[in-house]
Amino acid sequence: MTERESVKETIAPPEKAYLVGVEWKTIPDGKYKPNAWPAQESLDELERLADTAGLEVVGRTIQKLERPNAATFIGKGKAVEIAAEAQSLGVDVIIFDEELTPGHQRELEKIFGNHIKVLDRSGLILDIFAQHAHTREGALQVELAQYEYRLPRLTQTWTQQALTRQAGGRAGGSTGGVGLRGPGETKLEMDRNVIRRHIVQIKRELENVRAQRARYRSQRRRSGLPTVSLVGYTNAGKSTLLNALSGAEVYIADQLFATLDPTTRRVTLPGGTVILLTDTVGFIQKLPADLIAAFRATLEEVTEADLLLHVIDASHPQAREQARAVYATLKEIDAGDVPVINVLNKIDRLPDPDAACAALGNLADSVAVSALTGQGLDNLLRHIEEVLEAEMTRLDVLIPFERGDLVGLFHERGLIDKEEYRETGTRIVGRLPETLAAQFGEFHTPRAARRAKQPAATAD
Ligand code: GTP
Repeated sequence: MTERESVKETIAPPEKAYLVGVEWKTIPDGKYKPNAWPAQESLDELERLADTAGLEVVGRTIQKLERPNAATFIGKGKAVEIAAEAQSLGVDVIIFDEELTPGHQRELEKIFGNHIKVLDRSGLILDIFAQHAHTREGALQVELAQYEYRLPRLTQTWTQQALTRQAGGRAGGSTGGVGLRGPGETKLEMDRNVIRRHIVQIKRELENVRAQRARYRSQRRRSGLPTVSLVGYTNAGKSTLLNALSGAEVYIADQLFATLDPTTRRVTLPGGTVILLTDTVGFIQKLPADLIAAFRATLEEVTEADLLLHVIDASHPQAREQARAVYATLKEIDAGDVPVINVLNKIDRLPDPDAACAALGNLADSVAVSALTGQGLDNLLRHIEEVLEAEMTRLDVLIPFERGDLVGLFHERGLIDKEEYRETGTRIVGRLPETLAAQFGEFHTPRAARRAKQPAATAD
């Protein structure tokens, strides 16, 4: 039995959820974007999120809106209708597919009654994150996001008992520093200043985490191993691909956000190059910027990678929109310039993979694979090697004999085109990962030095 199944079993019966989506007739203002994909499909995704959080979805509705109602977000009449339906269905929580302001939430609670909780997409995602954060770093990041999300909503009349009952046992257990079970359970007892103090404390702890990560990264860089990060929409198959390529046993589930904490494995490419492959948190549409910001420490694995493998579930009806959401998030976290290979995954599910891949549009640099069956993986590994080689720096160096360590390093990590012994040392012409090139800076041959446009990148 998985940990998740055992948690589900102890919480019975599941809370009943009702979903509310919006179809924008116009673009109301900068905050609410036109529907990236049809409101029904977005609600399907919200239903999967609710299911992942352990809720049972018993109904849904969509309202067409020109602009959000200042008080109640949806129209007041619609809210009253929903209240009646929710009452008859015995609903415990009503979840909105769009971000609600704390004011909207309060007004809606007045209409729905105290016994029904109001949640929005971000709040639901936060609860799932809390359930899935297994490491201290993950728990701290989720806790920060939760406090920041809930701070302005503190005067709400409802409690988040059931949702945090699941989250508290796990995420709360690992929060360590602040000594709380979970922000939801304690929020009624805490005043804003206390929460603000906690936020400062968590941020301080996260700075330590970031510094530690930065140290690991610089060690890794010194080792010269190229770092490749898996990115992609939630459930696209990133962990499955990491397992398939590295033989690792990373937790896989047909759930959204099964993986929150980065996992790194060594993978040997066909030509012998060893890379470090990292799996990290999945992306999703409408992910609020402050939630992304809370995961900064984790996401630096992505921004500082040599190469990104963007895993796309090519069998998903919204594959194209999902890919766009990922590219938008990459831009937001300043990873827009890192080279990307688009990995079109799950082609085993497609009767005509070529047609489906073509339907995804002109995605540059793409490779079709099935992480599940292994189809296309050799091709992918070769392509990774090609791209990394293309990213290498060309060097022409004369290394003094007493620096045998550098000759060894070139042999180990580089690709040598020419090697000869001179009176004063060993001349090597070849290519090296950019991160290692700086160590050879002072040994450029005079010809190479003349040609060098600029010094290579530093080792750190
Ligand atoms: P998050 O942790 O949510 O970001 O998900 P992920 O991208 O790491 O996805 P994961 O590897 O957990 O896979 C999600 C689901 O897709 C699981 O049920 C996998 O078995 C399934 N899956 C992954 N790759 C393939 C594939 O190539 N073919 C098929 N048919 N299913 C796949």
